[in-house]
Amino acid sequence: MKSISIIKPDDWHLHLREGQILEAVLPATINSFRRAIVMPNLIPPVTNVEMAMTYRQDILNVCPADCVFEPLMTLYLTDHTLPAEVQAAAENPHIHAFKLYPVGVTTNSASGVTSLPDLMPTLEAMAEYQLPLLVHGEVTDPTIDVFDREAVFIEHVMSPLLDAVPGLKVVFEHLTTRQGVEFVIDAGDNVAATLTAHHLLLNRNAMFNQGICPHHYCLPVLKREEHRQALLAVAVSGNHKFFLGTDSAPHDRARKESSCGCGGIFSAPVALELYAQIFEDNNALDKLEGFASLYGPEFYGLPVNQERITLKNEAWQVPTIIQAGTEEIVPLCAGEILRWRLGTDRAEPEKGSGNS
Ligand code: NCD
Ligand code: ZN
Repeated sequence: MKSISIIKPDDWHLHLREGQILEAVLPATINSFRRAIVMPNLIPPVTNVEMAMTYRQDILNVCPADCVFEPLMTLYLTDHTLPAEVQAAAENPHIHAFKLYPVGVTTNSASGVTSLPDLMPTLEAMAEYQLPLLVHGEVTDPTIDVFDREAVFIEHVMSPLLDAVPGLKVVFEHLTTRQGVEFVIDAGDNVAATLTAHHLLLNRNAMFNQGICPHHYCLPVLKREEHRQALLAVAVSGNHKFFLGTDSAPHDRARKESSCGCGGIFSAPVALELYAQIFEDNNALDKLEGFASLYGPEFYGLPVNQERITLKNEAWQVPTIIQAGTEEIVPLCAGEILRWRLGTDRAEPEKGSGNS
């Protein structure tokens, strides 16, 4: 296969940050994706409609004039989020979901939720307005093994939540385990999941390859090969509940290469190319378009993009560093040769289509 053309994909889970990092990382996403669900874990977190509109404008200000990229905003759920905020979000055309971070679970989650049962009226409002809850599905109990935290979350938090609010739309973000795959398959059509390129590509050995590899550390942490195989199987199966979400999470190099390095893999410059490689390696290139461009909009109730992109079978070398003002970001696969490359016509809309 020399090249493939698919409907331009969307990224259903993305960290864009702010300031000089935002400026440096946005072009990579714009090249590959028409829209992206933008995570709200800034400092301070994006907890209300006004903050989300300010952040959206900051992102649009960095987009080139002719660009058709659309940021899909989310609000950060806290212990203090009221049903009225859910209504305001539902009435705003640019806000598409709430994000649940259990308190302390990951980068910038200090304002996260301490007790879901205390948020019932707010969660019921989300169900009423059919505004999805995007879930970072891990418990934070330090006595639970870090590799088991997703499976324990399913049993102790996710199942009871869906029993209590059966109409809630949920996206289980960056799913990493066989148990997670089974849970989402068995759940109703109101439950879906995003899969990252790095969890499809790597198992936990990648963090300990002749030494500790901080640029392969993310949350949820990479798991055993058995789990990667379960993710792969469902990604290429054509199941509409599983779609693309990179969780591209840039950090300054010094914060990663540290005695206590933070979680997050910056995959935006290579993600789409890696998904193509992974699907090809599993004889499923024909399933890439559904996973990358169709099932996400279907779940979110949004139109399918009109633009197309071309991926060519052409070797290229990933840069070792992306400079972000005074900061440096190391991308996934830094310095490696990848075999799929975005075509030069990648950003061009089809005739007659525009930024609608
Ligand atoms: C993300 C970040 O850096 O904001 N980190 C990560 O390891 N994925 C947060 C998240 O999605 O957990
Ligand atoms: Zn994330």
